[in-house]
Amino acid sequence: MILAIPGSLRRSSINAAALRAAATAAARDGLAVTIDDSPRSLPHFNPDLEPFPPEAVRRFRQVCADAGGLLLAVPEYTFDIPGAFKNALDWTVGSGSLYRKPIAVLHVARAGRGEHVREALSHVLRAHNAHVTHHHVPITQRAREANGEIIDTRIVEQLRTVVAQLVQRASVSQPGFVEAQELAMATTVQPLSGTYELDPHHSTVQFAVRHQQVSTFRASFADIDASLCADGETITVQGQARVESLTIAEPPEFREHVVRSADFFDADMYPVIVFGSTRVELGDDGAATITGELTIRGTTHTITAKGTYQPTREDPFGNNRAGLELRTVVDRRSWNLNWQLPLPDGTDALGWDVEITAQLELIKKG
Ligand SMILES: Cc1cc2nc3c(=O)[nH]c(=O)nc-3n(C[C@H](O)[C@H](O)[C@H](O)COP(=O)(O)O)c2cc1C
Repeated sequence: MILAIPGSLRRSSINAAALRAAATAAARDGLAVTIDDSPRSLPHFNPDLEPFPPEAVRRFRQVCADAGGLLLAVPEYTFDIPGAFKNALDWTVGSGSLYRKPIAVLHVARAGRGEHVREALSHVLRAHNAHVTHHHVPITQRAREANGEIIDTRIVEQLRTVVAQLVQRASVSQPGFVEAQELAMATTVQPLSGTYELDPHHSTVQFAVRHQQVSTFRASFADIDASLCADGETITVQGQARVESLTIAEPPEFREHVVRSADFFDADMYPVIVFGSTRVELGDDGAATITGELTIRGTTHTITAKGTYQPTREDPFGNNRAGLELRTVVDRRSWNLNWQLPLPDGTDALGWDVEITAQLELIKKG
């Protein structure tokens, strides 16, 4: 059993809603996630009470000790762990109930928020000798129904994967843990293995660059291809995008000036952008780091892209799909994309930094 503990006591807590959605999604895989609201009812921690802890504390310690893993979702309050949740953690210190416990911490705040609570939880849980992974699953109000429940299917899938990975870790650290659950997982969630080809209709490769200092210009490549080969320990990713397929129709001069012109992509001379990985790291927490050679305009440089992966799962049509979402920022001058004009105030019309993002759906072929 996985114990899910919300760090917020608020009635319409987004953290508690995330745990409920994770429990519901996991139940579909036959995985048991029990929500525990103990922080709400525990007395204030007092070391004087340690020899004869109150009943609520004894129960809380026991359910933590019995759980195969813990799933936590904790908001940030004034740059730290909320008091009620920290109080609950303090009660477990002397008990050893979190010792070597696999713990997954969900961070539901948008990027750039809640960094302090993440760090604080890392420190505290490390002091318990727990095995902690962090998972950023940003959830906005838009992802929730009027009743507060999370309905966004993409977020629900992410939560489902977090639980599946936590169960896997729990079963490794405690042999015999949830054998029935492992069986259920084996049919639905597998790590990446074998060869995969891109589903180009549900994949995007895009770049974004600061334009005229007022906005960000984005464009995608319509004609893309990629493959992934996971052969035992080694994983390789190859990809390419045809420059002419840049999804910009108007004005027509754009195609001449940006796509074909030697100031930019010089598409007639260099029609394809190519990527080949040299190192692929996939973490237990769903993090992906891919280093490789990116060739644009006949020039090759090493880049590192970071993001997430989704393990293989079956779609309704019998295909097995995996996902990769990656981001990197490069200086376009490295590939001789040197075009520039000064604005009247002396600043640059077009940014040097270019963000490249890829959302790739990969279908298992063998
Ligand atoms: C007392 C208080 C302090 C907060 N301090 C921070 C903060 O330091 N950093 C932050 O990112 N958000 C802060 N917030 C915002 C909460 O983290 C945010 O509203 C979160 O969604 C609350 O979680 P819940 O919906 O699960 O209750 C604070 C909220 C409250 C009530």
